[in-house]
Amino acid sequence: MEKLKISVLGTGDMGGAIATALHARTSHAIHVRGAKEDSISCKKLIDELHLAAATDGDLMTSNVVFVVVPPAELGRVAVTLDAYRGIVVAVSVSREVGRDGQPSSAETLAASLPGARVVGAFTSMWSDAMRDPGPDGQVSAFVTSDHDDAKAVISALATALGFHAVDGGLLANALYAEAMGMFAVRLAIDSGYGRTIGFRAFNVR
Ligand SMILES: NC(=O)c1ccc[n+]([C@@H]2O[C@H](COP(=O)([O-])OP(=O)(O)OC[C@H]3O[C@@H](n4cnc5c(N)ncnc54)[C@H](OP(=O)(O)O)[C@@H]3O)[C@@H](O)[C@H]2O)c1
Repeated sequence: MEKLKISVLGTGDMGGAIATALHARTSHAIHVRGAKEDSISCKKLIDELHLAAATDGDLMTSNVVFVVVPPAELGRVAVTLDAYRGIVVAVSVSREVGRDGQPSSAETLAASLPGARVVGAFTSMWSDAMRDPGPDGQVSAFVTSDHDDAKAVISALATALGFHAVDGGLLANALYAEAMGMFAVRLAIDSGYGRTIGFRAFNVR
């Protein structure tokens, strides 16, 4: 895989895990940005891992931008990425996903960023799995998009990060993969699995 320029927008629990995993398990150039210029979470990643702070110019010239912000911030992110024409990976999950006809975060981003190629991925797992997915390919990463070329890039990235990349079909299916993320939250808390729970797709025969 060619060396990519990847920016991670949102440097909290999941964004930090993604930036750390990309840094540790790939040789791509990683840039990070939090909500504000003096974001503590972002500074921590820059100081500890020597990642670069993502300038506006870096965002625009990235091959891939991960969006890992609270769903309420997607509108602000759409303004930031308005002129961006590359691949956007939607990782945000709303607690209300699928309820009362709520769209997925991936579809919300795609509607507000018509010039970008939006891919839904890594929404069905906790940050703990992103940090340590266990034996290679044990945990599935469901990848959805209306753009096959973008889906191929993010599937290859998922494989490089140690996941079993699953073609999740069109972006309309992101709703289900995001709902799996909320189900992972419920299983972790209500059913006692904890944050290391993972999903894997497989054929019984
Ligand atoms: N945590 C998980 O295990 C997990 C797993 C799958 C999906 N997700 C999804 O990922 C998203 C983030 O979750 P989280 O747990 O990482 O939340 P979090 O720990 O609260 O972090 C949110 C991050 O978003 C940043 N942010 C807010 N507005 C922003 C903006 N406009 N531009 C750039 N950055 C902005 C914040 O920056 P500051 O640090 O500067 O405030 C913070 O770093 C959520 O939608 C969640 O559903 C989380």
